[in-house]
Amino acid sequence: MANLQEGGSGEHIWSRRNLLSVAGWLAILGALQAGAVAMVALLFPRVLFEPPTAFKAGQPTDFTVGEVSERFMRDQRVWIVREDSGFYALLGICTHLGCTPRWLGPENKFKCPCHGSGFRKDGTNFEGPAPRPLERIKIVRADDGQILIDKSVVFRKELTEWVKPGSYLKFTASGTA
Ligand code: FES
Repeated sequence: MANLQEGGSGEHIWSRRNLLSVAGWLAILGALQAGAVAMVALLFPRVLFEPPTAFKAGQPTDFTVGEVSERFMRDQRVWIVREDSGFYALLGICTHLGCTPRWLGPENKFKCPCHGSGFRKDGTNFEGPAPRPLERIKIVRADDGQILIDKSVVFRKELTEWVKPGSYLKFTASGTA
């Protein structure tokens, strides 16, 4: 059987020096490729794209007096509550350990399924381990008349912030009070 490693003259086709040379070039090319990949990665920094904290919730007349609107709970974790005199918005995050409470209409309360905390319709905690009320978030009218919610601004009852501008949107059937 012919020796595949030998040419007609009896010399090896791939000498040890050739093999080492090829291996060296492969190593250099690999290093260059890794460098190039790293350079390209630098052009695309790892940025966490989060949904914007502000959103429009429609016209005030879209809501019914007495209603706890769950329209924005799934996407924004926000309830919008319509009263006779206006609106407030509650963040749907339990102040115990951060679970998502549920609005129980017939019982007129928010109830957290994790450890049983209960919150009244205005957000005040009254049962279970939650140490403080739900947080309200900024609610104002946008230029086009729609309700504008901004989750980056929170108001905490225990800090007497529920009286601050932006924590409540006054609105009656005849327009902004
Ligand atoms: S997280 Fe809501 S009661 Fe514990």
